[in-house]
Amino acid sequence: MYQAPRGTADLLPDVQPYWSFVRSQAESVARSFGYGRIDTPIFEDTGLFLRTVGEETDIVQKEMYSFKDRGDQNLTLRPEGTAPVCRAYLEQGMRNLAQPVRLFYTCPMFRYDRPQAGRYRQFHQFGVEAIGDGDAAVDVEVIQLAMTMLGSLGLSDLTLVLNSIGDATDRPAYLNALRDYFSPHLDKLGADDRRRFDTNPLRLLDSKDPAVQPLLENAPRSVDHLGGPAQEHWEQLKAYLNDVGVHYEEDHRLVRGLDYYTRTVFEIHPKVEGAQSAICAGGRYDGLIEQLGGPSTPGIGFAAGIERMILNLQRQNIEPPPDRPAPVVVAYRGDSAKSRGLQLAAVLRSEGLTVILAPERSLKAQMRYASSVGASQVLILGEAELAKDVVTLRDMAAGEQHEVPIADAGRHIVGT
Ligand code: HAM
Repeated sequence: MYQAPRGTADLLPDVQPYWSFVRSQAESVARSFGYGRIDTPIFEDTGLFLRTVGEETDIVQKEMYSFKDRGDQNLTLRPEGTAPVCRAYLEQGMRNLAQPVRLFYTCPMFRYDRPQAGRYRQFHQFGVEAIGDGDAAVDVEVIQLAMTMLGSLGLSDLTLVLNSIGDATDRPAYLNALRDYFSPHLDKLGADDRRRFDTNPLRLLDSKDPAVQPLLENAPRSVDHLGGPAQEHWEQLKAYLNDVGVHYEEDHRLVRGLDYYTRTVFEIHPKVEGAQSAICAGGRYDGLIEQLGGPSTPGIGFAAGIERMILNLQRQNIEPPPDRPAPVVVAYRGDSAKSRGLQLAAVLRSEGLTVILAPERSLKAQMRYASSVGASQVLILGEAELAKDVVTLRDMAAGEQHEVPIADAGRHIVGT
């Protein structure tokens, strides 16, 4: 027996209401902020991710689904959406549009991650990117969009954590400060952290190793190493957030696992869980488009894991609205009634109703079938009904039934 690959899921109809609810709320909130949908290919040139997400990141080192196609091209199933959207921004000449260009996406992503609750190898993100304006007001807009979207799902008890990791020009001095701080403690670092010390000591702040945690308390803070413009942006961002009443916590250890970030980084966590549980995460990437060979262009965005949003809806006992109406079942006794039932079902569907023809069984079994599919009403056709050109309409909740003219049946069906 084949099984779905580890870390992937089959989404059956019973969970689909969660998916429709999350996608439709997210998309309508994005549209209300003036964002338009973008779809990019599921795979891209591998180099796109190496160059932007960063060769030393976990994503590139351990998690990409990369392959050579039959034409010897190095391709990768996209592990994230920001680099593809920026590639499209450049390739499609979107810098000639009014800036910033506001885009959103909902699509599958692929990472060879260790599967656990809320972590999959094929997962889905709702993400937004605002490209072409470096103003801190755009950071606030993106953060507000994220909070509004999560609020529109009914999720509560969320914490917004925020940090600024400065500009690329601020980075060398900060990395040196981190190296100076950690170098007397190298013996306490495991192999992964030792490598990070050499390649990108910023990521040490993200270490999950319990032995390293006490060291992190007093580690140098990026906000103390901001250059003038990044400092001004950071202060402006916090002032605007206060103005619009968005509550945040500063987290000096928040650095994010992708290399393209500059200045603002943020995550939104449910209060009940540990550090691994960001529902939503993002930040500014003012150098990314230039890294792809374009002109210097600021950008900011976030992505929220759809599986994680659904997990939190379930934890908070939030029921999504049904994604389809309760069906009307057409039941029948005898061959001519079945044939009439087929016609009736087609007519009612064309009138906009959701209709299922019962399976060929005894009438009693057809009624049991109707309850098991949650039918609101059943239309029963037998020889007696056919003779009179009527159909018996049974209201399943009330347990009552009466005859109505067949030609008029649609008008008598209520509340689906
Ligand atoms: P990220 O932090 O790698 O950022 O992912 C964003 C969100 O995707 C996470 O907070 C989480 O909800 C979800 N997620 C990530 N990995 C998995 C997984 N294996 N299984 C389930 N959910 C997962 C990015 O991807 C950036 N592109 C976000 C961004 C957009 N930054 C700027 N613009």
